[in-house]
Amino acid sequence: MSTSQVDNPEHLGGGQNMNLLKFPKDFLWGTATSAHQVEGNNIHSDWWIWEQEKAGQLGGPRDKSGKACNHWKLYDEDFKRAAWLGNNAHRLSFEWAKIEPEEGKFNQEVLDHYHKVIASLKKHKLEPFVTLHHFTNPLWIAEKGGWENKETIKYFLRYVKKVTSEFADEINFWMTVNEPTVLVSMCWLEGFWAPHKRSVLEAFKVIRHFASAHRKAYKTIKNISKNSKVGFAHSINISAPLRKVGIDPLIASITNFLSSDFFLKITRGYSDFIGLNYYNRVHIGFKFSPPFYKIVFKGDLTDMGWEIYPEGISKVLRGLKKYNLPIYITENGIADVSDQKRPYFIIAHLEKVWQAIQEGISVKGYFYWSLIDNFEWDSGFSKRFGLFEIDFKTQKRTPRESARIYKEICTKNEISERLTKKYLS
Ligand code: GCO
Repeated sequence: MSTSQVDNPEHLGGGQNMNLLKFPKDFLWGTATSAHQVEGNNIHSDWWIWEQEKAGQLGGPRDKSGKACNHWKLYDEDFKRAAWLGNNAHRLSFEWAKIEPEEGKFNQEVLDHYHKVIASLKKHKLEPFVTLHHFTNPLWIAEKGGWENKETIKYFLRYVKKVTSEFADEINFWMTVNEPTVLVSMCWLEGFWAPHKRSVLEAFKVIRHFASAHRKAYKTIKNISKNSKVGFAHSINISAPLRKVGIDPLIASITNFLSSDFFLKITRGYSDFIGLNYYNRVHIGFKFSPPFYKIVFKGDLTDMGWEIYPEGISKVLRGLKKYNLPIYITENGIADVSDQKRPYFIIAHLEKVWQAIQEGISVKGYFYWSLIDNFEWDSGFSKRFGLFEIDFKTQKRTPRESARIYKEICTKNEISERLTKKYLS
């Protein structure tokens, strides 16, 4: 795009008013969740077992997920909330551990349940984006060595084939895996999550298995449902060097490459779109023991201790332009129990998304993480990402102020002058 086009307010879609940010007419607005984090009772999964054994102990997750948000039962009323937000899409995941609780035995009742879930989304006019693997595995997979075992690719493909054949007429957007590079760093590099390893070699092996699983799943799904769009959700953050001198700049550029382009390059040609999960900037410093880097957050922080850094999403989106694929922001969100920072967070990131669209970057949708407070992995229920607050004793949902703001944006398909002036100037 030429500079003159960028300077032309008509082209910017903002009319004469540069404070009004209008989004393209077919833009998708949504929120995202994942099965283990919201549904509850994921009793045949590796995470469930880890929670039973280690919750509340050193090195274990803070809480047991238990009934989580009871979304298994409350999905229809939750989707009504998403529709109230003015959303026209929703990202969710199907739970492999529930669908195939025992090796080779698919549970038809669970598949029937997901048919009802999809019907409910359609009733509320929400386009489903379905993730097939969002961090959790059936226990029997973990017992066979999980993603370190090459055979897991084969088992995953059998599950993918079963599910996508079952839902071929109902789903247009499939996402094979969620954030493989994050899962690998949590489990095999930094060792926080089971199987608690700190091995660069193991990490590379597992990432290769995920890449192969994605490429093969892409082909499997396209053979079954050739018009569907298939991608995966990729977490990309910005790595900055902790110290500007010495080895840190080199380490930061390596982690930048490994957490962004590397996985895209090894799966290139096997995606119809890019799913981008963007949260923060990290500062990377060298350390002498594996994984040979440490992560430090600076600046304005969320309840997770993550830096709020909207400029980063611009940089990431510009870096993705070369792939020439439609991009959906499949996650972007903030843990903020007070809801004081969330309105700014959403508006500041969306402004950058809007700018990227003006630069000709093909961003087609935005999914806020998350619709409701939920089970934030090892942090349990303590970190609140939801537009709707949940009282986990009563399961009562209450919209936060930010939900009303997001609703205004989604419903009007624009960020009004009032909102940009209030939050961005
Ligand atoms: C991830 C997942 C989500 C998280 C969210 C907030 O990035 O870990 O996709 O399951 O809950 O990102 O941490």
